[in-house]
Amino acid sequence: MHSILIIGCGSIGERHLRCFQKTGRCKVSACDANAKLLTDVSQRYAVPAFASLQEALGAQRFDALVICTPAHTHLAIAREGAAHGAALLIEKPLSVTLDGIEETRSAIVHSGRFTAVAYVYHCFPWVAAARDFLLGGSLGAPLHASVASGQHFPTFRPAYREIYYTRHETGGGAIQDALTHLVNAMEWLIGPMTRVFCDASHQRLEGVTVEDTVNVTARHGNVLASYAMTQFQAPNETTLLIHCEHGSVKIESHAQRWGTMKLGDKDWTWHVTPPLERDELFIVQANAFLDGMEGKPCALSTFDEAVQTLRFNRTALESSTTGLPIDLP
Ligand SMILES: NC(=O)c1ccc[n+]([C@@H]2O[C@H](COP(=O)([O-])OP(=O)(O)OC[C@H]3O[C@@H](n4cnc5c(N)ncnc54)[C@H](O)[C@@H]3O)[C@@H](O)[C@H]2O)c1
Repeated sequence: MHSILIIGCGSIGERHLRCFQKTGRCKVSACDANAKLLTDVSQRYAVPAFASLQEALGAQRFDALVICTPAHTHLAIAREGAAHGAALLIEKPLSVTLDGIEETRSAIVHSGRFTAVAYVYHCFPWVAAARDFLLGGSLGAPLHASVASGQHFPTFRPAYREIYYTRHETGGGAIQDALTHLVNAMEWLIGPMTRVFCDASHQRLEGVTVEDTVNVTARHGNVLASYAMTQFQAPNETTLLIHCEHGSVKIESHAQRWGTMKLGDKDWTWHVTPPLERDELFIVQANAFLDGMEGKPCALSTFDEAVQTLRFNRTALESSTTGLPIDLP
């Protein structure tokens, strides 16, 4: 049994705690700076509780840390975990600036432990299957990609005014909190983004001033791409479309399906996944991380892939401020 410490047991941390428990492959402990929340969660799931990372790491050895605190704290906690000799699953986005990336990478390399970033689209079967198909190459090279995504954020996260979401410095706003998932997924499908032109604005969400609406025109190498996202819209829908030399691939994440249309076809050929609850996807992610820890193949986002997506987050914010397109290194 692996011993796993969940740091930050708020919205996503509690889900990770529950889903790691459900793998049956680990013993889970909880850590949160909020004493009341920690007591509630640790009692509900009958797990040991620690009031701080220092208290936890001083009390026993952990094989892995799952870092579920707000993004500006991720890297410092990751370095402490690496020094402890723990494997790391770090929530997205990796951080809010590029400060501390090199030190963190060195600490991970020195620890020799498995590290991944929890960009959960890597665990959606309909995304992974579409990726395998694209990499198979039968449609030729991708030439154009587009993403349309959004939901009514207040419905899914009623506390959005009281959490990290309210400020860019803590990982807030649509770019760092939501669009980052789609850009990371698209980078996984067609390769890294190389150019960003971003227009973003606060259009609708009450009680915050960060952007809730984003348009991005981008390039992933030779592939032209566009992204459109709002966090106030009625439909909870995410569609990714990739047009290649000989046909197209469409992923409808909300419908848990992906499809192909070859040149000459009259309609899409769909591949539908049996319905999966959100927790089931996080159990897939927890199992993938445990596999990675055990040296087995694992499709989770690597640290370096998450650094690349962090570069997108930073550059998109900069482009939206300057109004200029920016090349990514
Ligand atoms: N993958 C996903 O689908 C997904 C969904 C939601 C959030 N997230 C990401 O997960 C992270 C956390 O988001 P959330 O919505 O759970 O936030 P949250 O505010 O609900 O929970 C964060 C928790 O961390 C605790 N905390 C903060 N600093 C701490 C520290 N130093 N030591 C111990 N505990 C500490 C807080 O007390 C709080 O309970 C963010 O990076 C966010 O972007 C990912």
